[in-house]
Amino acid sequence: MTSTLPPYFNIDPDQALNALGAPTQTDGFAAIAAACAQGRSDLASRGLEENGERHLRLFSTWEITRYLIPVAQGHFRRVLKQNPDLPQGQSETSGGAKWFTLDEVLRLRAHFAAEGSKAKNYLPYRPEGLPAKMVAVANFKGGVGKTSTAAHLAMSAALDGYKVLVIDLDSQGSMTSIFGGKVEDEWQTVFPLLARHYASYLRSDNQRRMDRGEQPIPLDDTLSAALDVSAQSLIQSTHWPNIDLIGAQLNLYWAEFQIPVWRMQGGGWKLWDALTDSLEADGILDEYDVIFVDTPPALGYLTINGLAASDILLVPLGASFLEFDSTGRFFDMLHTTFQSIEEGENLAARALGRDELNFEWDAVRAVVTRYDGSQQAELTALMQAYLGPVLSPHRQDFTALIGQAGEQVQGIYEADYRDFNRETYARGRETFDATYAAFKSLLIGAWRRDALALQEAAE
Ligand SMILES: Nc1ncnc2c1ncn2[C@@H]1O[C@H](COP(=O)(O)OP(=O)(O)OP(=O)(O)O)[C@@H](O)[C@H]1O
Ligand SMILES: [Mg+2]
Repeated sequence: MTSTLPPYFNIDPDQALNALGAPTQTDGFAAIAAACAQGRSDLASRGLEENGERHLRLFSTWEITRYLIPVAQGHFRRVLKQNPDLPQGQSETSGGAKWFTLDEVLRLRAHFAAEGSKAKNYLPYRPEGLPAKMVAVANFKGGVGKTSTAAHLAMSAALDGYKVLVIDLDSQGSMTSIFGGKVEDEWQTVFPLLARHYASYLRSDNQRRMDRGEQPIPLDDTLSAALDVSAQSLIQSTHWPNIDLIGAQLNLYWAEFQIPVWRMQGGGWKLWDALTDSLEADGILDEYDVIFVDTPPALGYLTINGLAASDILLVPLGASFLEFDSTGRFFDMLHTTFQSIEEGENLAARALGRDELNFEWDAVRAVVTRYDGSQQAELTALMQAYLGPVLSPHRQDFTALIGQAGEQVQGIYEADYRDFNRETYARGRETFDATYAAFKSLLIGAWRRDALALQEAAE
């Protein structure tokens, strides 16, 4: 009889006590963290190269001509044969399929763009003389697919030929580990850029203080040191030839405590502009095509900086009631937050007859992630009806290819299609290609709008 009872009945208190173990004190967390760190480095070391570097797979002729450079395989082979200086690829068996590194693919694409049919889009659209577009992926709900979406978009954009920078603003550092980043402490994250922005504000504010005969506020060691840091010095290259990274690590969380302290001291500091201004001042927006910012599941100061810096805002959410509900609240928080910044600034701006501050994004889109058509079609249709064009019509399907990715292979674009059934692979890839296509259309549309405005201004 008792054997059919649910498991939470008849738990013996003495047995429970035996299984309980000693109480945990603060030190206990250190022990658990150490065990995790050991396990992590064990996992990370499997499949890494001897020097601990991550390694990007090769791309086959089939994949290149199918997904990357739109030419017929026969034509592709002929062009290589006629141009012995171009990368010829390597094969595992004599006469077997040819495989190329992504660097080689990029060189081949440049060749086709220069020599091939002008009617084909060998190189992706990027108007000259306009800065990179920044894309923030954010939602204060955790686990909705922010990092997966940002990482896959960064990889698709890189495969498409764009030069990509990824900025990790999440102290969990997931994006950083996807791209194999090495970050010792907060000085290798965006932290010093934010500190530098405040330090230069404080310096000019001190000048004004001295002009008024007041005491300047001394710059502490952190702020003085930050003045010497450039964005370039924080950028690391990754195993992707055209994706670079500014990484994150646990200490970056310190910024959430430090920023409000600075703001208390220097009430006129425009903290939300710190990231954009620093990247712009260092010329980063001219060095890259697209910059993806992954944010933590919170609307803290780092996220506000990422959002204020971005041109395109993507808000991933699953098609469930809870995620829909909390995403609605997230938009509500965005409204309150940015409105209160604008009001604070514009009160003074109006009094001084200065231009008012109005935040603006080229595009804001909610994106359904982990979509299961057999269960979620109705709810998604309802979400679409309420959100209209704000909800991107493309739904990113749930795919087993992502969950299965190990430490070495992060997501679909790093996986070798030979490890999967070709159909499964094609379907998984299709949904992320479509996610990219929907994004690329926003990107190109926004650049086009800027290019036309620039043209009009010049006329
Ligand atoms: N399209 C998908 N198909 C299957 N699994 C997915 C898909 N997108 C994301 N996932 C899985 O969902 C989980 C959460 O994804 P992810 O880490 O990208 O979310 P997040 O919003 O960045 O989380 P956090 O708030 O912690 O930063 C991960 O295990 C990821 O592998
Ligand atoms: Mg994340």
